Amino acid sequence: MIYCQTEWLLIRDMEDADISELSGEAENSEEAVRYFRKQAGHIQSGMCTGLIAFCQGQMAGYVYLYYRCKWGGLGNQGFPGIVDLYVPEKFRRKGIGDRLMDIAERIALDHGDKVYLDVGLNSTFGSAHRLYARRGYIPDGRGCYYEEKVCGVDAPCINSDELTLCLVKELVKHQAQRQQEERSMRQGYPSREAAEKILQEAESCNPGPWGAHSRCVAECAEKIATACGDMDVEKACVLGLLHDIGRKFGARHLGHVYDGWKYMEWLGYPEAGRICLTHSFACHSLELYIGKFDILPEQEAEVRETLERLEYDDYDRLIQLCDAIGTAEGVAAMEDRMQDVRRRYGNYPEEKWKRNLALREYFEERMGRDLYSLLGEQERTRQGTRPKG
Ligand SMILES: [Fe+2]
Repeated sequence: MIYCQTEWLLIRDMEDADISELSGEAENSEEAVRYFRKQAGHIQSGMCTGLIAFCQGQMAGYVYLYYRCKWGGLGNQGFPGIVDLYVPEKFRRKGIGDRLMDIAERIALDHGDKVYLDVGLNSTFGSAHRLYARRGYIPDGRGCYYEEKVCGVDAPCINSDELTLCLVKELVKHQAQRQQEERSMRQGYPSREAAEKILQEAESCNPGPWGAHSRCVAECAEKIATACGDMDVEKACVLGLLHDIGRKFGARHLGHVYDGWKYMEWLGYPEAGRICLTHSFACHSLELYIGKFDILPEQEAEVRETLERLEYDDYDRLIQLCDAIGTAEGVAAMEDRMQDVRRRYGNYPEEKWKRNLALREYFEERMGRDLYSLLGEQERTRQGTRPKG
């Protein structure tokens, strides 16, 4: 099964043919081959799922999820356990470990109300410690383990991979939270709280001013939707928070549009995915895209075909407008934003320029008031005082 497929990342079930690729990373490849063969046997006998990630064709990580794990702190108690998460050094800090964990935890939820793992205490596990803490794993409270047994006070031990801590994550949510999630799936976008979490997690993968820009867009969208009187205010805010979520996967142009669209669809939020796609095409035309076409030809065809099929609604138009005025530092004059893009990219299509102004007029008419007075900003077109996000 394929769990995630973007231009730069593929995550799927492990296959026997992956063994040479998996063991290629190891210092002792013979021993590694034996280990991965044994794991392949466990997959075949239905004890676990093995997930493998590829980044542009290269093996970029793996993890095993045992449904009733036998090893470590909560071993043999019927709980699912995450075993041997690994991401090669050169692929770290790209969110691959998180994606593998997202999928493993989702599978674990079918097998129990909590999931656990054992992690070594030495410094080679430093980035894993941070990853697990961020994801809500807490120690089981029994102190450290040495060679799979609780290590007593003052007991001799060596700070090898055998000195570990057992970390546990509660997977079962409160009923209200579950209902909220189901509602989010039905409506095609997450709650505001969940959207903020998705954004925060994405920013940790690729920090930059885009996070503050997204919050500014969300705030503008919320105010405009409120002033319109007949729009869903929470939806407007959530779509604003997530419109640039494709930046989680790196600084790309059309790539961030495509990745955001696919990522949201993968999480089960097609309405948010749609906005990741439409926010960059106020003119409804791929040809007028100003940045680089840094996606594969077949992905470009997919974007073109989907755009042609979509009829824009007021949420598409709202986020297009807010994207044209929201910066990382706050609201800016639309003309300033467009001039800035023209300066950075060398051009700004006339049609797009006019379209943005028309969007502003459209919403001003709908609200019955001036956009900038609503947003509590003086229009700064002529002063041009705002830095750009
Ligand atoms: Fe944006």
